[in-house]
Amino acid sequence: MALLLRLVALSLLLAVATAIRDITDPCSSEIKDFQHLNSSGLHLTLHHPRSPCSPAPVDADLPFSAVLTHDAARIASFAARLAKTPSARPTSLDEQQPVAASLASVPLNPGTSVGVGNYVTRMGLGTPATSYVMVVDTGSSLTWLQCSPCMVSCHRQAGPVFNPKASSSYASVSCSSSQCGDLTSATLNPAACSSSNVCIYQASYGDSSFSVGYLSKDTVSFGSTSVPNFYYGCGQDNEGLFGRSAGLMGLARNKLSLLYQLAPKLGYSFSYCLPTSSSSGYLSIGSYNPGQYAYTPMVSSSLDDSLYFIKLTGITVAGKPLAVSTSAYSSLPTIIDSGTVITRLPTGVYSALSKAVAAAMRGTPSAPAFSILDTCFQGQAARLRAPAVSMVFAGGAALKLAPRNLLVDVDDSTTCLAFAPARSAAIIGNTQQQTFSVVYDVKSNRIGFAAGGCS
Ligand SMILES: *[C@@H]1O[C@H](CO)[C@@H](O)[C@H](O)[C@H]1NC(C)=O
Repeated sequence: MALLLRLVALSLLLAVATAIRDITDPCSSEIKDFQHLNSSGLHLTLHHPRSPCSPAPVDADLPFSAVLTHDAARIASFAARLAKTPSARPTSLDEQQPVAASLASVPLNPGTSVGVGNYVTRMGLGTPATSYVMVVDTGSSLTWLQCSPCMVSCHRQAGPVFNPKASSSYASVSCSSSQCGDLTSATLNPAACSSSNVCIYQASYGDSSFSVGYLSKDTVSFGSTSVPNFYYGCGQDNEGLFGRSAGLMGLARNKLSLLYQLAPKLGYSFSYCLPTSSSSGYLSIGSYNPGQYAYTPMVSSSLDDSLYFIKLTGITVAGKPLAVSTSAYSSLPTIIDSGTVITRLPTGVYSALSKAVAAAMRGTPSAPAFSILDTCFQGQAARLRAPAVSMVFAGGAALKLAPRNLLVDVDDSTTCLAFAPARSAAIIGNTQQQTFSVVYDVKSNRIGFAAGGCS
């Protein structure tokens, strides 16, 4: 009896504590879980990887140097992918396991590193639908999530792991299906086949993160919008830096990407506003309001047909173009990417930008270099006077960078220019895109920018 009373008292206390937390919680349930379809597409809430409102936040104690290390791995994996050099096999695959055994002879190709730099949203799967936290990635195609029984390995995720047995609409996909053949272009690794004729995918992401499992189909849903027979990976071996997300949502240009599979219903475009860690962003899939954007053409590249290439044509600092020739900007292909944190520029362009920004900020005491960032200042981005910097793209579309898009705070008293020199490809990263609306209109082959997209 006494025990029962204590339990009742304890649960009352917990209820009060929860109520107080809800009042003081800056992240309302609406911010956490907004999913809404109207004539301008399917609207989903997008979370910064380190936002306290994220349903699967990256460890708040993660030092910025770890973010940069991870960013370097993503860059290296892009480079290997463009050079088409295979990466090392994951060493943790247990050859005793059936999935792993089927894969013993599959060479691994580099994908794109994911994790701490990537934004997350929610996706529903199965019948009845259950919601999962997914990393959003414009640099990869196949959508996959961790799947019970996690035959080899699952990382720790927020919420329960997807259970195919609990979904009445789940089916595995056979090795002879065309989607199984499409895996080669979607994951950059050929499919394998299990002894029971189920197609096995293997998605690998630079920095030795990977997911291996069964190609499957089920109903995907976002709020009340659902699409049957969505092809995705049911991951039985998932290892690497995926934070506490359940899996990954691929938005690259490929038949198997979420974008292409939803396009017959929603249209061949998506847009997003990547929020800062203290604002709220969105991912919209499908039709959009074309009037608000300034556009630059998507460029095709023989190096890779699923990444989004555009053409950077100039950078101005305080209204003045950098002192480099226009050909310097096109000396490397340029990729726009949602998951790279720091923008990479051709070396000559980078040096000129660094010099021009340092000259414009002469009055601000400088600070020592921090990891790959070599143009640093004492203070915090939000409180410093930074010059107006514009990145201009073919066709005239521009990103007019606010101080938070130009400088990144690396610790409590230091901020650095959020750019670095590129080796094999220039990358327009997410620090520079934050708070802009960016539309990827695959149907019209163009990318658009508009200021002020996050709330
Ligand atoms: C559709 O919903 C989004 C999100 O609520 C809103 O921002 C947008 O203006 C709506 N579009 C139309 C055409 O109603």
